[in-house]
Amino acid sequence: MEKDFDLDYMKYTLKKFVNHNRYLHSINVSCMAEELGLINKLNIIHCKIAGLLHDIMKDMPIEFLLNVIKTEDAINFNLYKKEICILHGLAGAIYVKNTFNINNNDIYNSIKYHTVGRVDMSDIEKVIFVSDSISYDRDYKDVERLRKLAFEDIDIAVREVCISKIFLLVKSKKRIHFNTLELYHSF
Ligand SMILES: [Fe+2]
Ligand SMILES: [Fe+2]
Repeated sequence: MEKDFDLDYMKYTLKKFVNHNRYLHSINVSCMAEELGLINKLNIIHCKIAGLLHDIMKDMPIEFLLNVIKTEDAINFNLYKKEICILHGLAGAIYVKNTFNINNNDIYNSIKYHTVGRVDMSDIEKVIFVSDSISYDRDYKDVERLRKLAFEDIDIAVREVCISKIFLLVKSKKRIHFNTLELYHSF
C-alpha cells in the first residue's frame, strides 16, 4: 500500500528554505506536474511531490549543498564539486529522501536531474523536466508553444525543452552539461 504523504508539512518545510518567488514557482511546477501526470496516467502524488520539492535547495549556499551531498556520496564528492549546475538538484534529491523518508526512484531522480535531464528518463522525470520550464509562472517568448506541445506529447516536449535550454546556454556562452548534450543526441 502507498504510504501517506503530508504535502502540507512539505510545503511548510519548503517555505523555510526558499524565497517567496521560488516558493510560488514550486507550487506552479507542482500544479503543472499534476496536470501532465494526469494526462500521462502517472502516479499523481509522486508528480506533485517532485514538482513541489525540485528546487528546495536552490537558494541554499553551495557549502550547504556540498555538505548534504557529502553525507550521501562521499566517494564521488569531489566530482560533484565541479558539477555546479546539478548541485541543487542532487542535494535536493538527497535532502528530500532523508527528511521526508521518501524512498522512491522517480522522485529522487526527477529532482536530481530536473535541470539537465538525461537519456532514458522515466515518465515522471520527463514530467518534472518539462514542468520546470513551462509552469504557469514562466512567461518567456516560446512558453505557450512548449506548453501546448507538453499537453499533446511529453516526449516531443522533452526534446523541445532540451533544444530550448541548449539554445539559451549557447546564447549566453554558458557550459552545456554532458547529460543535456547526450539527451539532445538521443532524439
Ligand atoms: Fe532547479
Ligand atoms: Fe525550478
